[in-house]
Amino acid sequence: PPLSAMFNSFDFESVARQTLHPEAWAYYSSGADDELTLQENHAAFHRIWLRPRVLVNVKNIDMGTTFLGTKTPLPVYITATALGKLGHPEGEVVLTRAAGRKGLIQMMPTLGSCSVDEMADAKVEGQTQWFQLYVNGDRSVTEKLIRRAESRGAAGLFITVDAPQLGRREKDMRTKFVDDAPSVQSPDSVQRSQGAARAISTFIDPSLAWSDIAWFKSITRMPIVLKGIQSGDDAVLAARAGVAGIVVSNHGGRQLDTARSGIEALAEVMNALRAAGLDRALEVYVDGGFRRGSDIFKALAMGARGVGLGRPWLYAMSSYGQDGVERLVDLLADELAVVMRLMGTPTIADIRPEMVILKDLASH
Ligand code: FNR
Repeated sequence: PPLSAMFNSFDFESVARQTLHPEAWAYYSSGADDELTLQENHAAFHRIWLRPRVLVNVKNIDMGTTFLGTKTPLPVYITATALGKLGHPEGEVVLTRAAGRKGLIQMMPTLGSCSVDEMADAKVEGQTQWFQLYVNGDRSVTEKLIRRAESRGAAGLFITVDAPQLGRREKDMRTKFVDDAPSVQSPDSVQRSQGAARAISTFIDPSLAWSDIAWFKSITRMPIVLKGIQSGDDAVLAARAGVAGIVVSNHGGRQLDTARSGIEALAEVMNALRAAGLDRALEVYVDGGFRRGSDIFKALAMGARGVGLGRPWLYAMSSYGQDGVERLVDLLADELAVVMRLMGTPTIADIRPEMVILKDLASH
């Protein structure tokens, strides 16, 4: 179908399901184990209801905000997803270019198909990127990755903390990534035949701990954000560790199955931070299953600064390239503008906690 026939993020997903190489579809779409968390990530939004206000002047809607001090026209960023070339021959730079056109922030992945240099080279003047870090057991390798990203202008260091080991994504494992060569013999190693995710991830350090945060702060001036927080207790620890932010995330349902949805964990996180008087100490981001303008609105009402989307960009990029990603930005912006107008909130600052009804969330 033509791009003009895409009216929401689910439309791109349907096209991608039919057109992507089966191996790419398996890697992008899969979640861990029974994919309960994957499903719940979006389904949880269906349990949150909105309480609109009327007779507010909503002639002009301003969706602009700031992330870590950087202006963004929408409270949305492109989160890190690995292996962009599975979906598009040019890989992550397609997302970079679309982000540049639309003024969105892109989080560059450690395990991108494109290098940090390629992604940084694809930036336009004034464009902001962040860097997602998988921490290598060899800290000198980790330090090099950080310095490289910082020297190429990355404005935030997002350390992924939910992956001391990669989850079991069986759809992905079954497609027997690439060539199935039984080249890795060590029982400790992960064979390529266990899927794309495991083939690329064997270097992630499972010993990473809270005590390492001080070291990261000592080697970079980039603000540090911990990606993959899922409890109020850890959010409080993060604030006490003095990081600039957290991303409440279950890694798109790809890690611990039956973990709560991102939006549900956000409710607990915000309650814990408020109770500890720390809700202004750091910026709280959230991702997982955000597909609609109303999903984004709900997270902001609950106290999130911004929202990350992962798969929707991959699906748009795979099916329609840069134009697809740009259209998806426009569609999300249009949806959010409609919701803000109907909610009586002309600016992001007008979005209030009492506008969402959370009683059907277990964590509330
Ligand atoms: C991811 N995600 C991820 N996260 C991370 O920190 N490093 C990574 O390399 C990747 N790679 C990756 C690949 C693919 C194909 C997906 C779908 C996801 C997780 C990602 O950053 C984010 O947390 C989720 O994708 C958000 O959920 P949605 O928007 O995909 O539902």
